[in-house]
Amino acid sequence: MILTGLRANNDLHIGNYFGALLPLIDMAKGHAEDYDINLFVPDLHSFTTPIDHNLLQQQIMHNLKLFVAAGLPLDNDSVHLYRQSYVPAHSELAWILSCFTGFGEMSRMVEFKDKSARIGDDRVTVGLFNYPILMAADILLYNASYVPVGDDQRQHLEFARDIAEHLNKKFNDLFVMPEPVAKQHEFFGKDQGLRIKDLTDPTKKMSKSEEPVKGIIYLGDEPAVAAQKIMGSATDSLASIHLDWDQQPGVTNLLQILALLRNQTLDEVGNEWAGKTSYGELKNVVAEAVKHFLEEFQTKTGQVDEARLMAKLETGEAKMNEIANAMLTKVQKAVGLRP
Ligand code: ADP
Ligand code: TRP
Repeated sequence: MILTGLRANNDLHIGNYFGALLPLIDMAKGHAEDYDINLFVPDLHSFTTPIDHNLLQQQIMHNLKLFVAAGLPLDNDSVHLYRQSYVPAHSELAWILSCFTGFGEMSRMVEFKDKSARIGDDRVTVGLFNYPILMAADILLYNASYVPVGDDQRQHLEFARDIAEHLNKKFNDLFVMPEPVAKQHEFFGKDQGLRIKDLTDPTKKMSKSEEPVKGIIYLGDEPAVAAQKIMGSATDSLASIHLDWDQQPGVTNLLQILALLRNQTLDEVGNEWAGKTSYGELKNVVAEAVKHFLEEFQTKTGQVDEARLMAKLETGEAKMNEIANAMLTKVQKAVGLRP
């Protein structure tokens, strides 16, 4: 089976959309004949760094609607949609796994080091530290073999394999081990490494954890405001358009965005604009395309049938509770918590 989670602690931006959401939905559509596909919102992971809790519920439902607006098929019975916290076995297994995890091993997680350095010692929580253990529980409860994640999550996936192997040795084959990263790449086709860049600083990736928001096009942005962000994006002083991430990252990023919106290759769009001199014209065209895309996408999001979405969640959560509880019981027996 295939399993992945997409966090919902913020509105998604066009980088998340083209880099994660669309590939995920293509994957779900492409493999639903042969595999069970679990897509879930890891809501317990959303406050491992500080958030506004008054907005969380709304954010979770909003992001689920984005999945549907982006094409997630709700009528496919092999695709299971659920919220992590609605399946309490995730938390219980995470606790058990945490008692078999070395403090030193967790301390080596690069994402923890990066994030904790960014938010500052006084705001770093044990939840952020434990994050990969809950993620391992998310995966191991369902015997998932394939877990599509971005490069930054690879170490966490390796940890899920390590803890599964450790417990399998100690307690006789409790879990199915997720496939190693190389096998995952083989299965999904190697990561294209798509990285939309920040509009104000095109040497950095567009990331929802960054300020200022002027550099980020959110899926929920007012289309006219998003167009202004494109018009205000940083370029260079070379005055000639070329595909060149090193010398012209700003211009190349705009070409990339245009290519994605038009469903063309970067080379096609690059050739169309090569040698042209008006950055203003390029920005106008990209701004229009972004505006049009957002108008259309937001209309689709507004039309998502909420009752159908809720029904899909409820079916998914009921089924997942059965599967997850069966696995939890197996683990509880193995560690001596159950007769
Ligand atoms: P963010 O940096 O915005 O917080 P995450 O690290 O939560 O994003 O990543 C969520 C998913 O979106 C990952 O699969 C990641 O590869 C993808 N992603 C994030 N930013 C970009 C980007 N700028 N371009 C393409 N894909 C991206
Ligand atoms: N940590 C993942 C991310 O930040 C989200 C996630 C949580 C996840 N649990 C998971 C992904 C289990 C795959 C499997 O993107």
